[in-house]
Amino acid sequence: MIEDRPANFHPEIAERNFGVESLYSTCYSDLNSIDSDLDLTSEIRRMCVEKRAIILAHYYQEPMVQDLADIVGDSLQLAIEAQKAKADVILFCGVHFMAETAKILNPNSTVILPDMDAGCSLADRCQTEIFREWLKDYPEYVVISYINCSAGVKALSDIICTSSNAVSVVSSIPANKKIVFAPDRHLGRWVSRQTGRKMALYPGFCIVHGLFTPRRTAAMKARYPEAKLLVHPECDLLISAKADFVGSTAAMLNFVAKDTGNAFIIGTEPGIIYQMQKLRPDAEFLPIPVDSRSNCSICPYMRLNTVEKIYLALKDMKPEITLDESLRQRALKPMEAMLSLGC
Ligand code: 13P
Ligand code: SF4
Repeated sequence: MIEDRPANFHPEIAERNFGVESLYSTCYSDLNSIDSDLDLTSEIRRMCVEKRAIILAHYYQEPMVQDLADIVGDSLQLAIEAQKAKADVILFCGVHFMAETAKILNPNSTVILPDMDAGCSLADRCQTEIFREWLKDYPEYVVISYINCSAGVKALSDIICTSSNAVSVVSSIPANKKIVFAPDRHLGRWVSRQTGRKMALYPGFCIVHGLFTPRRTAAMKARYPEAKLLVHPECDLLISAKADFVGSTAAMLNFVAKDTGNAFIIGTEPGIIYQMQKLRPDAEFLPIPVDSRSNCSICPYMRLNTVEKIYLALKDMKPEITLDESLRQRALKPMEAMLSLGC
């Protein structure tokens, strides 16, 4: 019934591979029932011990959520941690494709995502059936898909990559093979430039990194000439081409930790700045503004996970990520192809 839909119901999300029904498992009304005197952090830690749960969080989570996590990382690190986790429960503070990837790699653990609406513009705009049709124009091509995609799209791919290993994955494909790269055209263009490989690019993009413009980036560089520009490869190539460093969230952190500079312009979701500041309290981090008054480069999907929803998810053990076993097996193959490269 339409009246029962959560306030932020969106048909595009409802069409995602996990099905409409699971949308209603997100307990919006239950949020108001949480006792306001409860110390949620201690309750969450207590339940983690009781339920043998670990919390994995992406760098784009709000700082309070990052502080609750057992492990904070980029997509690749979190996938590897999920695969080797011995816990009964993986509470994934990230977006749907990340939690689904954890389930693909670790089917024996119960994987829960605090908010099932935490999608991703790249994954949600590359529907499996549309992708299957699109691929018909590229027979005999090697299909490389960015990890920001559904299990259905992974299952149609030969190998997966993340932003931290995309260059190595593309370079691993024999030079005589043609390549399709999906679903992020910006990452694809950047990798193409790094490797010299021509690739057919699926026309997807990230709505968050798509907010950064070359004009505002140039204005920041002009205003802070001493600051180094660090950007994520999901940014437009016109921005990446001008950067001092282009890399995944973990690679940017690594750069900041080692670099002698003391000011950095950051072209990615600002959640990462929390860890950057911990590593380099002496340095200044300047997010690229996306409009003249505010910094709205926050990922609206990532930030759906909150401490309250983590508490509810652990208490009720839902929303849970479930996957058809045959689909999981098919999606696992290209994941294993990536992981076997060890990059
Ligand atoms: P990383 O793998 O670099 O953390 O990127 C994930 C992501 O969704 C970037 O928008
Ligand atoms: Fe997806 Fe972009 Fe959010 Fe990353 S920042 S999870 S690519 S919408």
